[in-house]
Amino acid sequence: MNGKHDVNGTHARPLGIGIIGSGFIAHFHVRSWQAIRGSDIVATQSRTLDRARELAAYAEDLRVGVDVTAYDDIAALVRDERVDAVWVLTPNHTRVEVVRAICDEVASGRARLRGIAVEKPLGRNIAEARQVADLVREAGIPHAYLENQVYAPRLTRARELMWTRGARHSGTPYLARCTEEHSGPHSAWFWDGEAQGGGVLNDLMCHSLEAGRFLLTPPGVAPSQWLRPVSVTATIASLRWGRERYAARLEREFPGVQDYRDTPSEDYANATYTFVNGDDEPVVVEAMTSWGYVGAGMRLSFELLGPEYSMSANSLSGDATVFFSRNLEQASGEDMVEKQNAEQGLMPVIADEPAAYGYTAENTHISGMFARGEQPLESLDSGVEVTELLMAAYYAAETQTVVRFPVDLGDYVPAVARRAWRPRSTSGTPSGTEAGA
Ligand SMILES: NC(=O)c1ccc[n+]([C@@H]2O[C@H](COP(=O)([O-])OP(=O)(O)OC[C@H]3O[C@@H](n4cnc5c(N)ncnc54)[C@H](O)[C@@H]3O)[C@@H](O)[C@H]2O)c1
Repeated sequence: MNGKHDVNGTHARPLGIGIIGSGFIAHFHVRSWQAIRGSDIVATQSRTLDRARELAAYAEDLRVGVDVTAYDDIAALVRDERVDAVWVLTPNHTRVEVVRAICDEVASGRARLRGIAVEKPLGRNIAEARQVADLVREAGIPHAYLENQVYAPRLTRARELMWTRGARHSGTPYLARCTEEHSGPHSAWFWDGEAQGGGVLNDLMCHSLEAGRFLLTPPGVAPSQWLRPVSVTATIASLRWGRERYAARLEREFPGVQDYRDTPSEDYANATYTFVNGDDEPVVVEAMTSWGYVGAGMRLSFELLGPEYSMSANSLSGDATVFFSRNLEQASGEDMVEKQNAEQGLMPVIADEPAAYGYTAENTHISGMFARGEQPLESLDSGVEVTELLMAAYYAAETQTVVRFPVDLGDYVPAVARRAWRPRSTSGTPSGTEAGA
């Protein structure tokens, strides 16, 4: 009998959460636990023990865990008797190796887990996403895909109202328009097309696409059961960060990242997906994402249109606005909104960002499901579907064609991820892609 469980196999104590990866998003997740009951942070991991210890101390300070153990070894964390479920929060290029290390411990019987939750995107391409899902399935662990936006209260509540008051009486919604924009990522690896798997399309459109599928799907139903993909058109571009001044800034701030003058990752992407819904009606998701938005901070916007109803939400509406005059010298920070760009003038404030962006509801739901031995609806299968749809958008943008589903892109790696996308070169093809995509 594994010591993690009582004699009936049920939980006699809060579910113990192990956090793998100790960077930006790990801190967001740990903060969200301040509002969660029934589970505690019990262990953290990073490649360097110092960073894992820093996150463990942060969790203890927030009182979301007691005696949180810091590890630099993933297998040791998974074998920790107090760890019941793991959250995988490391960079995209580590996804397969990290999930394999976890699953090896479980499959070999050295550890037992009640759940594994994996951050977006599930992989850098379809092959990787499928590999991750297969490893977890073979190890027999309940799983969750960490797409926070489908848990964001502004979306869940608005969707409920749209479907109960609008769709029930006038028909299903037909257009979801979702965007996510900010002025650029915080760590070097995001900028590296190979490490990240692409640019802003891979990084942010996974959110906007899944938010769009979520809004168009009735509550309680998996999007894949309701929406059959028909086609996608897409455009990617290098608008800001390929310019001399900004490419030079990247070189200074993130040494070692590819030269954005020559082979940038895209900092703008749009895609229009058409689906047929469960009523046999055509419906559309318009997704747009950029790393070129210099406003107060990260801006998420959502719209849903139906026959007699509509909704719209914009994260920068915030909970309050504050004003600081030009006479104040301000230190830069991220204390008003994520990816904050200014500390003066009129600024929005999002009072509880983990709640507003959906992390709190996400982790409440997922940890509760794992504790009860149940499988969350937003699963690694959702992560695979999102990756398949994203790769189709890359392919459509590269080839400047309409991609029709089903399409087999199992071996496809976007040109951006191969550093073969040269949109600023005069000798390139119109899409800036070298042959062989
Ligand atoms: N849901 C969201 O909105 C959201 C937001 C940001 C990031 N993310 C996702 O979370 C993941 C982590 O992003 P982040 O912003 O925290 O990145 P980050 O760069 O801030 O932190 C990454 C962490 O992983 C560790 N790490 C690096 N290489 C590793 C390796 N080979 N093995 C193990 N650990 C390693 C780093 O030391 C660091 O602790 C990414 O997949 C990203 O796409 C999601």
